[in-house]
Amino acid sequence: MKISIIGTGYVGLTTGACFAHIGHTVICQDIDSSKIQKLSNGENIIYEPGLNELIREGLENKNLAFTNDFVKAIRDSDFIFICVNTPPRQDGHADLKYVEKVARDIAKNLNSYKIIVDKSTVPIRTAEKVKETIRKYCSKFVEFDVVSNPEFLREGRAVHDILHPDRIVIGVESERAKKMMLEIYEPFTKEKSIPIKITSVKSAELIKHGANTFLAAKISFANLIAEVCENAGANGYEVLEAIGLDERIGKNFLHPGIGFGGSCFPKDIKAFKKTLEVLGIDPLFIQSLEKINDWACERFIKKIEKELWVLDGKFIAVLGLAFKPNTDDIRNAPSLKIIGHLKNEGAKIRAHDPKANNKMRVIFPDIEYFQDPYECIAGSDACVLCTEWDEYKNLDYSVIKNAMATPIIFDGRNVFDKKEAEKCGLTYIGIGQ
Ligand code: UGA
Repeated sequence: MKISIIGTGYVGLTTGACFAHIGHTVICQDIDSSKIQKLSNGENIIYEPGLNELIREGLENKNLAFTNDFVKAIRDSDFIFICVNTPPRQDGHADLKYVEKVARDIAKNLNSYKIIVDKSTVPIRTAEKVKETIRKYCSKFVEFDVVSNPEFLREGRAVHDILHPDRIVIGVESERAKKMMLEIYEPFTKEKSIPIKITSVKSAELIKHGANTFLAAKISFANLIAEVCENAGANGYEVLEAIGLDERIGKNFLHPGIGFGGSCFPKDIKAFKKTLEVLGIDPLFIQSLEKINDWACERFIKKIEKELWVLDGKFIAVLGLAFKPNTDDIRNAPSLKIIGHLKNEGAKIRAHDPKANNKMRVIFPDIEYFQDPYECIAGSDACVLCTEWDEYKNLDYSVIKNAMATPIIFDGRNVFDKKEAEKCGLTYIGIGQ
């Protein structure tokens, strides 16, 4: 199958590399020429485990290419996957200007039957609009289909999630497009039985927003229970673990912390809230989960302030900057809010992240960055842990205790073992315990 991928961000690049890996011929297009140059040379542009190996493999096998040339990418392919970004607008709606532009450009270059696939996360009815736009701007009659095939990958596990998905959702209107889409995914499903849900286009669009909202709601529920536990003297770990053992609920995504971040949940639930408003449905549920997510971070900041009283002039070590482990992405990371607040109060920040130091340096150029967590902690008045990197799980509590000026740990992700940390003389403040 000949596939073109428009937009080589997280979704486009990993999808393209994985499609090439399973044997399709893929051309990835992006307007950013420096990105294309680097990718064509096999250089890394994002940190994503396993991705670089797949890119190099595709380049070597000559079934993965990168280009700025939109016309070439469109004309030579049977499938056009729209993977451009859909950032939030001021009012919360997803900004679809890049999707609309791609649809217009496709219309101008449509030379034979093609399947246009919405892969980016978009609100319900976007495919309908893409179809209308292509019809409007295409000067001759050429057949095409617009399909919704949402991506469920998680950053940091993107390659694994694409190659071993829980399910594949294909929202499609014509038999012809359905048959061709199933052919694309056949190599994924050959060895393992992966459920393929064929749905209407609108249902497929809603499945993505619905899934992300539900996951975000689970996290906010966990954060609410954690707060109740703290206030009432119960143990959040025990409570959430036991709740999650009910098969109807499940234990995943019930870990309390300092709130969800990243580029997806905050943006998607805002867009879904707008969809509800447009449909005349009260967005109360979504407002609540957003509010609880904000509280999770604010409550953590309050704990730091309560314990340290005056922040001015204190050295605070921040461990973990990325919004979650195994990524260098800092978009909507709770660490941004926490560092911003501590800095405003006059604290001197020392930061460590295994992958995200460089990205954070762009936002906060005036704080100290370290390559080693122990060096970061040394001499500090408090340590604030924001991301649950594996590297932090094995830190030696006695070494930390002796290295810090005042051994206080604020553990925003419950990475440390409270009892063990206290045994070693650390003052430990976690979440929900
Ligand atoms: C999320 C979804 O999990 C993917 O299925 C979806 O495809 C993707 O959005 C998308 O829309 O493209 P992602 O944002 O990469 O993926 O990251 P997650 O692993 O879902 O984590 C999101 C946030 O929730 C992180 O800040 C994480 O720390 C937080 N989280 C997660 C918790 O606070 N508690 C948990 O129990 C789980």
